[in-house]
Amino acid sequence: ERLPELLRTMPKTELHLHIEGSLEPELIFQLAQRNGVKLAYPSVEALRKAYAFTDLQSFLDIYYAGASVLLKEEDFFDMAMAYFRRAKADNVVHAELFFDPQTHTERGVSFETVVKGLTRACETAKRELGVSSLLIMCFLRHLSEEAAFATLEDALPWRSHFVGVGLDSGERGNPPEKFARVYAKCRELGLRLVAHAGEEGPAEYIWNALDVLKVERIDHGVRCVEDPKLVQRLAAEQVPLTVCPLSNVKLCVFKTLDQHNLASLLDAGLCVTVNSDDPAYFGGYINQNFLETFDSLPALGAREAYQLALNSIDASFAPAVDKQAWR
Ligand code: HPA
Ligand code: ZN
Repeated sequence: ERLPELLRTMPKTELHLHIEGSLEPELIFQLAQRNGVKLAYPSVEALRKAYAFTDLQSFLDIYYAGASVLLKEEDFFDMAMAYFRRAKADNVVHAELFFDPQTHTERGVSFETVVKGLTRACETAKRELGVSSLLIMCFLRHLSEEAAFATLEDALPWRSHFVGVGLDSGERGNPPEKFARVYAKCRELGLRLVAHAGEEGPAEYIWNALDVLKVERIDHGVRCVEDPKLVQRLAAEQVPLTVCPLSNVKLCVFKTLDQHNLASLLDAGLCVTVNSDDPAYFGGYINQNFLETFDSLPALGAREAYQLALNSIDASFAPAVDKQAWR
């Protein structure tokens, strides 16, 4: 392994982490038992075996099924605390957690239950582990604009509990423009804006996330290389890309890690960060992403490690005073 100590110990932030994607099979079974939820898999091992994905949708089907065990405030708290303990072990000083309210409200779990459990975990993580965090509420892009507006309405009483909004779920056929009016409203509300774009979708979706939605960061964004003009713009404006190497391999965006374009994106001067996306499903938390990526891409060395860690701090929505302290 190359640079393992540096990669493991350097202070870093995590900016692309779906909290529902941190739910480990063991915790899924524990919560299923606690809540009397019946699972389609007989054991932890059988569930883990099902984690063989061919594309984004094949993952999402299993990911939404896993989230069905989350019913009570305590469940959301326990899930997030398990993540924060793992993040602490990887020297994550600050994490921005995506959550998918619609995955839960569609099952009859209230927005209040979700946000209270997650908020209490964020406060506990700060107090007991020294890990700072922010919540980013995501809209499911396979659902309608109307459903997104209804979710935003649900969220308004809890406005102070999340820093911004994101856009996730099946990308193809659900372009950013579909949510132009929702994002305009969020912008008026002073929310920070990010969106998944250019994971499975084309470079055009990245352009429109920037120009129509007016996002400040692009989640994934790896398909930007298909458009040199777009790469130029991302470099010139230093738009952060929250790249997730192990996710990209598991979802067949790249065949193998040694074919990943992270090193060439960095080399082109883009503000790249390394993240785990859905670590319980994709084979590793943030340090595993760093270690395997550095092992697979010979162009990455100590200089790139520092750059990636610094980028993650600069690109975060944490207060300037905290960022200064972490650099
Ligand atoms: N892409 C889109 N939606 C998601 C992802 C992802 O990588 N992870 C969880 N929801
Ligand atoms: Zn994601």
